[in-house]
Amino acid sequence: EAAEKCGYDHFMLKEIHEQPKSLKDVMSGRLNEFTGDVELKEMTLTRAEIGSLKRVIIIACGTSYHAGMMGKYAIESVTDIPVSVEIGSEFRYSSNRVGPETLIIAISQSGETADTVAAIKDARKKGSNVIAITNVVGSTISREADSTIYMRTGPEIGVAATKTFTGQIAVIYMIALYLGRARGNISPEDARSIISEMKSLSQKSKLVLEKEEYIANIARMFVNAPSFFFVGRNLNFPAALEGALKLKEISYIYSEGFAAGELKHGPLALLTTNIPVVAIATRCPTYDKMVSNIKEIKARDASVIAIASECDNKISQFVDLVIKIPDAGEYASPVLSSIALQLFAYYVARFRGCPIDKPRNLAKSVTVE
Ligand code: G6P
Repeated sequence: EAAEKCGYDHFMLKEIHEQPKSLKDVMSGRLNEFTGDVELKEMTLTRAEIGSLKRVIIIACGTSYHAGMMGKYAIESVTDIPVSVEIGSEFRYSSNRVGPETLIIAISQSGETADTVAAIKDARKKGSNVIAITNVVGSTISREADSTIYMRTGPEIGVAATKTFTGQIAVIYMIALYLGRARGNISPEDARSIISEMKSLSQKSKLVLEKEEYIANIARMFVNAPSFFFVGRNLNFPAALEGALKLKEISYIYSEGFAAGELKHGPLALLTTNIPVVAIATRCPTYDKMVSNIKEIKARDASVIAIASECDNKISQFVDLVIKIPDAGEYASPVLSSIALQLFAYYVARFRGCPIDKPRNLAKSVTVE
């Protein structure tokens, strides 16, 4: 096992560090920076079928659900198709919108999650085309779907998903662009700019990993926090949910993610000086609103750790600690924030002496409904 960890203390840490490579591999040969085209040979839908789609429903559980939420924002930004994201186990209670004009995208790193499998079987029976995004070749979901797009991230052993999460985001962004180009909703120029942003992720994720020691030092300060909040807006909202999920899974600290705008509708009542808040406030169209939310949080004397852009010299005056990530566009930035938050969760758990690769009561693949 030590050999398989390649010198890392845990599989999770090794897998976090594999992301510059896995992010490159997932896009390799699939994105054309010069034409703005996306090549997904696996897709079985014809251009006419894509043109007649009325809705997309993304189905997933756990971390994959958060990648699905990012997919919703991305698909709705680059196409005119409305998207909903459903938790696998809840899909059956509202599956009446499914039919030939509904595209189903099922996301599952293992390809075996029983709730997601049940949902796609139901959807296919009702005539929907199902695209699976998974990491495991030949998995149940890949066999049940009409087409499968593999993340090519290599095996992931740590129970807490890391490189498969960022791989899923890359695939769902590619599907978004593919649909947008096929329907003529996005120009080649706009697609090219998103593609070059995506292609920068491999290199920029290396720069995030270089901050490991700094992030570990921040994590050390919070090992005894009783609970944590994570907040963000737009694509940074699912990144906040995922940051909270990572922390609760492996450190056993109660942590919750919120859309920053929702704080005032309940969570603010819980805020005290000993609940730290991680605020994802990178430079993007929601930056000013995030700064307002941070001020609301600081008014309750909670500590704020901001995830901010490298170029941001202003944020440090509003918060207690800042983790800077490379400047990036609004699609790439949440991926980089997520990597920083994976490292943060890892080090909090490590300093608390938790069994990081095998957290209590959790499994890598959940095959019961
Ligand atoms: C389990 C794993 C999570 C994963 C979830 C969904 O709970 O511990 O890491 O996100 O299942 O798994 P899937 O394989 O469908 O992505």
